[in-house]
Amino acid sequence: MECSKAKVQIDTSTGKLTGEDVSKSTHQLKHLQGIFEDQAAYEAMNPETIVYEVEMHDKETLGTEGGLLFGTSYIYPGKVGKEYFMTKGHFHQKRNRAEYYWGIQGHGVLLFMSETGEVTAEEVLPGSLHYIQGYTAHRLVNIGEDVLAVGACWPSDAGHDYADILERGFSKKVRERNGVPFIE
Ligand code: F6R
Ligand code: ZN
Repeated sequence: MECSKAKVQIDTSTGKLTGEDVSKSTHQLKHLQGIFEDQAAYEAMNPETIVYEVEMHDKETLGTEGGLLFGTSYIYPGKVGKEYFMTKGHFHQKRNRAEYYWGIQGHGVLLFMSETGEVTAEEVLPGSLHYIQGYTAHRLVNIGEDVLAVGACWPSDAGHDYADILERGFSKKVRERNGVPFIE
């Protein structure tokens, strides 16, 4: 029997994905209007600044029930005012869909928010594993000096609901205070 080579590769030290059905999305400051609290600091920065990128192995079409998607998110170091660079954050459109995240490189915080707005947080470090239950919004924040790389695996029919977060944000922010990150 022939044994073929895998069609996709992951560099386990960086999370980098290469091969078939790998795509990448880039999120610059100009795409993140309304996400950071300090509007003046946001407007003073170069809108082309890349805040985060997501590589995805999207073999399954989005929305396919029973399938899985796999990705690596890279959140770059930086701040808008006192607030660290972070992802938009979302609930899954199908609210009961869960997800795994795991830390690959860098130092971050994963914020979880329930539908009623209660926020909890876990520290993200190389080797940390995070289970995101259904009905829970999630956002990654880079509190380190280097890129924060985080792996993820989630159901292909989960979908993303960004509207809810755009409207009400997360009820806790991760800000720098006296040189150290604070969740408040
Ligand atoms: C997928 C997932 C991650 C995020 C990525 C970017 O369900 O949680 O792949 O999509 O970290 O964050 P958002 O989607 O919030 O911009
Ligand atoms: Zn998700």
